Amino acid sequence: MEPNAQATPFVPATEPDETNIRQLVDAFYRRVDDDSLLGPIFARELAGRWDAHLAKMTTFWSSLVLGTKAYRGNVQEAHRPLGDIEPQHFARWLTLFLDTVSTRYEPAAAVQFMEPALRIAQSLQLSKFGWDYAIPGAQVDLLASLKRLRTGRSENESSAELPDRSRGEPFPAKLSGVESEES
Ligand code: HEM
Repeated sequence: MEPNAQATPFVPATEPDETNIRQLVDAFYRRVDDDSLLGPIFARELAGRWDAHLAKMTTFWSSLVLGTKAYRGNVQEAHRPLGDIEPQHFARWLTLFLDTVSTRYEPAAAVQFMEPALRIAQSLQLSKFGWDYAIPGAQVDLLASLKRLRTGRSENESSAELPDRSRGEPFPAKLSGVESEES
């Protein structure tokens, strides 16, 4: 079955719960389905399986944001068969997701979805495009500022803890144990 065609009226939610997460998932995949770039990929991959996908994604986000721990799956494995994914697909996925979240939740709730989405996108991008793929700068910057919001740290403290890898370093120096020239 296709995602619901009708938008549900809503006011931005202050707290994520199972009901508004299901509504977020429905709204996001309606936009994906309508999108000229992403729509055909999802239509092809999820033909006859939309309902199961929407239920699974509700469980996934509830596990991440509400801590329900009900999601049992492997996100990397699920995307491995998608051979025709390019950087522009990630850019579009993130644009649609971040925009949908920010219209449906108050900012403090929205960031709880945004940060994991950006982190998972980054790990999928590195798997798809190689460990030396340079994550787009705007994406790196957005993730860093969301992290600062969450931890309340200043830019310098935050970047000292997790150096950005936008220049294509295989791993942050602090994690790989290989110091870069400047540090
Ligand atoms: C280019 C961007 C993306 C595309 C085209 C894409 C496409 C898909 C497709 C087609 C599936 C269904 C797989 C199947 O059941 O056969 C799927 C599953 C899924 N996607 Fe994505 N995806 C993208 C990015 C992301 C991102 C950034 C996230 C981060 C939250 C994400 C999270 C998931 C999860 C959790 C599943 C379910 C995995 C499972 O089966 O357990 N996807 N994706």
